[in-house]
Amino acid sequence: MKKIGILTSGGDSPGMNAAIRSVVRTCLAKGVEPYGFYHGWRGVMEENYQQMNTISVGGIVTTGGTILRTARCLEFMKPEGREQALRSLRHIGIDGLVVIGGDGSLTGAMKLYQEAGFPVIGVPASIDNDIPCSDYSIGFDTAVNTALSAIDKVRDTAYSHDRVFVIEVMGRRNGFIAVDVGLSAGAEAIIIPEMPYNLMDISENLIQMRDKGKKSSIIIVAEGAAAARDVRDSIQEHTGFEVRYMVLGHMQRGGSPTAHDRVLSMQLGAHAVDLLLSGESGKMAGIQGRSLVATDLETVLGSKREIDLSKLKLAYHMSI
Ligand code: F6P
Repeated sequence: MKKIGILTSGGDSPGMNAAIRSVVRTCLAKGVEPYGFYHGWRGVMEENYQQMNTISVGGIVTTGGTILRTARCLEFMKPEGREQALRSLRHIGIDGLVVIGGDGSLTGAMKLYQEAGFPVIGVPASIDNDIPCSDYSIGFDTAVNTALSAIDKVRDTAYSHDRVFVIEVMGRRNGFIAVDVGLSAGAEAIIIPEMPYNLMDISENLIQMRDKGKKSSIIIVAEGAAAARDVRDSIQEHTGFEVRYMVLGHMQRGGSPTAHDRVLSMQLGAHAVDLLLSGESGKMAGIQGRSLVATDLETVLGSKREIDLSKLKLAYHMSI
């Protein structure tokens, strides 16, 4: 394998740059030419790429976002789009691809492998941490810490004014961010799409807590479960308390990656190159416990990552 392509696709996540750097420098260490494609699959289809060297990835381990840019490319989801991408890859002479992204990006990688046998290895990167077969995906730890540092600040003002704050975090289909943020922030309630919730019960709990002397509270809601504003309206109506809401939004996707995300990104980037060079394909590089693993993309995409309900229970016990 002489030329390896790299792309980032889907929603950006902090640590993608560290992963790109790892892929590029591992390639260089092993005598392989690395090529970066811009704007995800679109860059492959349009042959928008650049040969990379050690300098092109200098100084990026500390930065969020992705120097290769990213996109959600709908054309690539169609067979004609993938045929176009294959023509481009063959024209440039790319022997294998490392695809860094979430489930949509990994689905594209799997199709390229299944339909044309093109060598691909996926690297899980999504702040949502909803990709199965790896304990962590790149960016989750940073997003949780970014949200947490914002919520810790809100706690100060909630306490000072005896207010309830409803804070919406990202996670359109799941509550992984909400659970870890809620537990670590000491939230009084966590609302996620995976669990039924009742705003009347939550309101009653808030009233009981206030009777016991707890005058301010934080409620974390995953965007996929409910809108913070609606939760605010309902709790305000039921309790009569002063309730404010806040949507953290895309700030959770940016910023300098934590040490955890940098180490993970470097390990998975290097592992992806090693897998390609040892002839593996159609797999996702992941981490389970302390071990680097490789799982068939078909298995990854056919599985579902379950929320750890014991964390929710723990958060509840911590709040009473
Ligand atoms: O999948 C990552 C994510 O940040 C989700 O948590 C969020 O719902 C979505 O992307 C937002 O996507 P976009 O940036 O396209 O609005």
